[in-house]
Amino acid sequence: MAKRTYDVVVIGGGPGGYGCAIRLGQLKQKVVCVEKEEVGGVCLNWGCVPSKALISASHTYEKVKDHGATMGIMTDGIRVDVNKMQEWKGGIVKKLTGGIRGLFKGNGVELVMGNARVTGPRTVEVKTNEGGTETLEATKAIVIATGSSTIEIPSFKFDGKQIIGAKEAVSLQSVPKRLIVIGGGVIGLELGMVYQKFGSELTVVEATAGLLPGVDPDCTAVVEKKLVKRGAKVLKNAKATGYEKNADGSLAVKVDLGGGKHDTLVADTVLVAVGMRPNGGGLGLEEIGVKVERGFVPTDPLGKTNVDGIYAIGDVSGHPMLAHKATKEGEVIAEVIAGHKAAKDWVAIPAAIFTDPEIAVAGLTEAQAKEKGYEVRIGKFPFAALGRAMAVHETEGFFKVVANKKTNELLGVHIVGPEASDLISEGALALEMHAFLEDIGLTIHPHPTLGEGFMEAAMNGLGHAIHILNREQK
Ligand code: NAI
Repeated sequence: MAKRTYDVVVIGGGPGGYGCAIRLGQLKQKVVCVEKEEVGGVCLNWGCVPSKALISASHTYEKVKDHGATMGIMTDGIRVDVNKMQEWKGGIVKKLTGGIRGLFKGNGVELVMGNARVTGPRTVEVKTNEGGTETLEATKAIVIATGSSTIEIPSFKFDGKQIIGAKEAVSLQSVPKRLIVIGGGVIGLELGMVYQKFGSELTVVEATAGLLPGVDPDCTAVVEKKLVKRGAKVLKNAKATGYEKNADGSLAVKVDLGGGKHDTLVADTVLVAVGMRPNGGGLGLEEIGVKVERGFVPTDPLGKTNVDGIYAIGDVSGHPMLAHKATKEGEVIAEVIAGHKAAKDWVAIPAAIFTDPEIAVAGLTEAQAKEKGYEVRIGKFPFAALGRAMAVHETEGFFKVVANKKTNELLGVHIVGPEASDLISEGALALEMHAFLEDIGLTIHPHPTLGEGFMEAAMNGLGHAIHILNREQK
């Protein structure tokens, strides 16, 4: 059996693992990354990136089809070629995963394709995809970056064709006529809205009282309104309990609506998107004394587990399960391993939800700030009051800033509207810099841009936004 020695062995080549491996390479550490499927992980191959390509295609299609005439663009005969779209999406994924392999090479990171198992505090055994076995020795550290997997509901076992998860949903070769999404969370709404725009009749079955649990309900309401306006059925406090196959091949899906009420809905495809579970089990970690809790591998601010030399980053190390959080953790932990002064120490982890309109958040919601004992000052500004939003013909939504009423220090930023996912970065920076509403309001924002809304929301909090009437705050 071959045995090779490195400074660090990184298990998992997703945004956490590849970011960590590249940073280790930059820091001149001898590093190997083990990946069993494809570098880039879920995010690049089956998640963030392919879904955004489809979201952008569906947005362009709908905008031109439904709003082109308003803008003077006549679009007779517009149609969707799903195969061509998938081909384009596949090209983007290929370019990005190829890019990571190139970055590995350029930074001296070795890649082993195979299934890794930790066999000791400094050893990893890999069953390679080519059928061999290799032992990798890590003189300094092993980094667990194994991510998370789709949760399956027992009564809706994935068949890859009609009962599908996000992985299959980004690779459909045709548009389902009737689509039921179980789970009104991030994946359910992002992908549900894609197929709705391409013509699917959409039903969302959500177990709790609201869509996107945890997100500011003012923001969620804007998305829900648009979903329903386009004809979707949104069933809340509802549970899909099982299904039967109809003679014509469609599915009769039974839904418990609560309060003793039941319904049966017909669907051609059911997308199950009820969350992800962390992949901390089955890696041999418990056997060598590493604490694993419900699949999570808990760590301290330096990314260390309870066993010396073993680190964890990304989804497997805890919420939120977001690619950018994983990458940043990977970078930081690489520096810790290389002996630099570094720690996971941030004010906010922004989140972007690519619904229509987009939602993006950083920091505390109004409710969370109040729970923490703050007296809050709220500033709001609607996209409808921005000339640029009118010019791009997307005026739904608003900026909302939450600040400490006593000091005006910014506590949270919530944006629902066009390009919210890009606009939130300024909010995240403001939070990291402990900015006050005055800092944001006095920063000159170029005109005409969507970003002016952040400045105006801050000024609204202070009672003097220019382009809306300001209501006095008590
Ligand atoms: P999620 O946690 O966002 O949403 C799952 C939803 O399913 C929740 O609303 C929950 O109440 C509901 N649910 C749970 N069990 C149910 C049942 N039996 N019947 C009906 N509803 C049920 O999980 P999702 O959408 O699967 O996403 C997984 C992860 O991927 C999340 O952690 C998310 O952060 C991440 N993600 C992030 C994206 C982004 O940042 N844009 C995009 C896609 C995924």
